[in-house]
Amino acid sequence: MVLIFLFSGIQAYAVDPEVPDSEEAISAGQSIFNANCKTCHRLDQKLIGPALRGVTDRRELAWIKQFITNSQVLVQGGDADAVALFKEFNNTVMPAHDFLSDGDLTNLLSYIEFGDKVDPAAAAAAAGAEGGEAASSGGGIPNEYLTIILVVLVIVLVLVLVVLGLIVSVLTKYMNKNDDLDEDDKAFINQKTDYKGIFKSDGMIIIVTAIVLAFVVKTAINGLYTVGVQQGYAPSQPIAYSHELHAGQYEIPCQYCHTGVEIGKSANIPSANICMNCHMHIQNVEGKDGISPEIAKIYDAVDNNKPIEWVRVHNLPDLAYFNHSQHVVVGGVECQTCHGPVEEMEVVSQYSALTMGWCIDCHRNTEIDTQGNEYYDKLVQLHSESSNDALKVKDIGGLECAKCHY
Ligand code: HEC
Ligand code: HEC
Ligand code: HEC
Ligand code: HEC
Ligand code: HEC
Ligand code: HEC
Repeated sequence: MVLIFLFSGIQAYAVDPEVPDSEEAISAGQSIFNANCKTCHRLDQKLIGPALRGVTDRRELAWIKQFITNSQVLVQGGDADAVALFKEFNNTVMPAHDFLSDGDLTNLLSYIEFGDKVDPAAAAAAAGAEGGEAASSGGGIPNEYLTIILVVLVIVLVLVLVVLGLIVSVLTKYMNKNDDLDEDDKAFINQKTDYKGIFKSDGMIIIVTAIVLAFVVKTAINGLYTVGVQQGYAPSQPIAYSHELHAGQYEIPCQYCHTGVEIGKSANIPSANICMNCHMHIQNVEGKDGISPEIAKIYDAVDNNKPIEWVRVHNLPDLAYFNHSQHVVVGGVECQTCHGPVEEMEVVSQYSALTMGWCIDCHRNTEIDTQGNEYYDKLVQLHSESSNDALKVKDIGGLECAKCHY
């Protein structure tokens, strides 16, 4: 069965007699591929370069080997295919690999055509599992999966009950045809189950109550957890981008990427183009060769014009209104007061509780910086007539419901 499957997979490609499909060739090719090509290529997926499987169908063997050895020789020599490909990939230069022997190249092609055959069902399952993982913050078995498993279990149980019922009725019919049985036996076979009695029995009532109670308690606990989980929430992100490296070590100002903080409500998460300002030139951390797979993801996003799907960390409910520029520019509050030492964070986590009490506490205690702000002069004067305290956010309406709620 497995053999047939593998075989049919191989048959799907017009096998070039010069590309061996032996285990040794494939695994030798795989290690060369991983060392030299993997940063830019996948077998079945476009990355920085094209997906490679099937290339021996598209092109002449000699052409491929020449291209891998030094693609620029072909491009500059005006080879039509090479020039078209080079243009299609925005003039990205594929590095030369003139250190590879002819045997190496042949093994590479074996791996490219026959290696890592993906079983579509397994791939779909893996992709599904990844999606579920991303959706649930905790790790372990994602909640949606538990629900699905439970539903399946219930369905199976019901099916078993139905089948058992069928068997009982068939057996009953069969036994009734049997003339050897005396009256007692017949009465036993034909007895009706007393469903009413079962439902009213103490046992049943206890079981049902217990199930309902367990359900209520579980829901309540889940609810409590979601209240607590927010603070310290640090989801893993699609790219291993580090604030510690960028904002800490390289001292890139927060506003360089979070362009909205000074002009409006939202701080903005930078688009891949902002990353490209630098990563056009920086392809890896110092001391490493090739393209970092994490940075390759930025190229992938830009090339395919799809946004990087960062997972949101901070999220106020819709009923609350918060404005960054009001706090950062007018209020002069530092990012770190609310977000903590982001420049030391490898992965961003939610530092503050973000509850109403948190906002209100700060508004009660924070003095307004009125120095050199004419707008506040009048307010300060009015305020000092009625109170000895400094002017605080609460005194300018920072506790009014409508300021924070629509
Ligand atoms: C730095 C990124 C990079 C690396 C590393 C790289 N390639 Fe490429 N490759 C490309 C790009 C980009 C193209 C598209 C053509 C172009 O821009 O020159 C390409 C094109 C190709 C093609 C032509 C595909 C076609 O559809 O005709 C082959 C074959 C190929 N690469 C094989 C390899 C092999 C084998 C290795 C490793 C030994 C490798 N490449 C390493 C970027 C890379
Ligand atoms: C080079 C670009 C860059 C710089 C500089 C930068 N950030 Fe970020 N920031 C990002 C990206 C990308 C994300 C989304 C991914 C993540 O959460 O790590 C992010 C996420 C955040 C978040 C979480 C947003 C959410 O989803 O709720 C906060 C808070 C934040 N940054 C604060 C800061 C602060 C404070 C600074 C300066 C000390 C800073 N950032 C500097 C790129 C940057
Ligand atoms: C102002 C320049 C600049 C910007 C903008 C920038 N980076 Fe970087 N990035 C760097 C530097 C510098 C390094 C470290 C290089 C080194 O250590 O040699 C780096 C390293 C990285 C690394 C680590 C690579 C590895 O192999 O570990 C990742 C991932 C990364 N950046 C992602 C991003 C993302 C995503 C963005 C956009 C949100 C971004 N960068 C924006 C300058 C920048
Ligand atoms: C007074 C507290 C406070 C200060 C100061 C503050 N933030 Fe925020 N930040 C928040 C809150 C609250 C949210 C959640 C907003 C929401 O969900 O609507 C947030 C969300 C964010 C986000 C996620 C995207 C968004 O706009 O919702 C980023 C990025 C961010 N802040 C960066 C910064 C940076 C950079 C600074 C400093 C320049 C800063 N913040 C200063 C409280 C603050
Ligand atoms: C670290 C302290 C701090 C925290 C936390 C904080 N604020 Fe503020 N907030 C201020 C300061 C300071 C001002 C005054 C700015 C000014 O001078 O107008 C302000 C002003 C405001 C105003 C304008 C009030 C007015 O009368 O004009 C609103 C609305 C507001 N904050 C909403 C929020 C919300 C919503 C939260 C919680 C999600 C929050 N703030 C958390 C410090 C804080
Ligand atoms: C400084 C800003 C601020 C002020 C002033 C404020 N709130 Fe809120 N309120 C919030 C924030 C932020 C949340 C969301 C907190 C959370 O999700 O835990 C919230 C949540 C709520 C909720 C929903 C609670 C829940 O559990 O979902 C209610 C109801 C509410 N506020 C009523 C009021 C009333 C009434 C007032 C006036 C007396 C008021 N708020 C004043 C910021 C404020």
